[in-house]
Amino acid sequence: MKTLAHVIMGAFALLLTSQAYAVDAKAAESLAQRNGCLACHTVNEKVVGPALKDVAAKYRGEKGAEAKLIGRVKSGSNGVWGPVPMWPNSPQVKDEDIRVIVQWILTL
Ligand code: HEC
Repeated sequence: MKTLAHVIMGAFALLLTSQAYAVDAKAAESLAQRNGCLACHTVNEKVVGPALKDVAAKYRGEKGAEAKLIGRVKSGSNGVWGPVPMWPNSPQVKDEDIRVIVQWILTL
């Protein structure tokens, strides 16, 4: 009985967290939209900047990736993905927004 209860609780927790993620992803995507990130990036396709899915794939599992990318988004990045640089997004984009957007990118 105990294990069955655990399985049910586990399924519940999974359901709850996946819904929470879906909401967060929507909020984060609209932050990315409002802050102009999506003028140069899309989730699936390279535009001016790399596809955000490719960014996630490149850094998946890398320790400290979140802090590193937050730093790059704030102060700019060049030479990682090609000849076109990304200009600094700080201070025009709030630190808190950058953190949420980068956390979202890393889930893609
Ligand atoms: C004017 C176009 C432009 C805008 C606006 C822009 N980016 Fe970028 N972004 C780029 C380019 C170009 C690169 C690739 C730079 C390189 O090769 O190092 C890049 C790279 C990145 C990377 C990967 C950095 C790395 O070191 O691998 C992340 C993450 C990122 N952008 C997030 C964002 C976020 C978040 C925003 C909004 C706050 C944003 N970008 C706005 C053009 C842009």
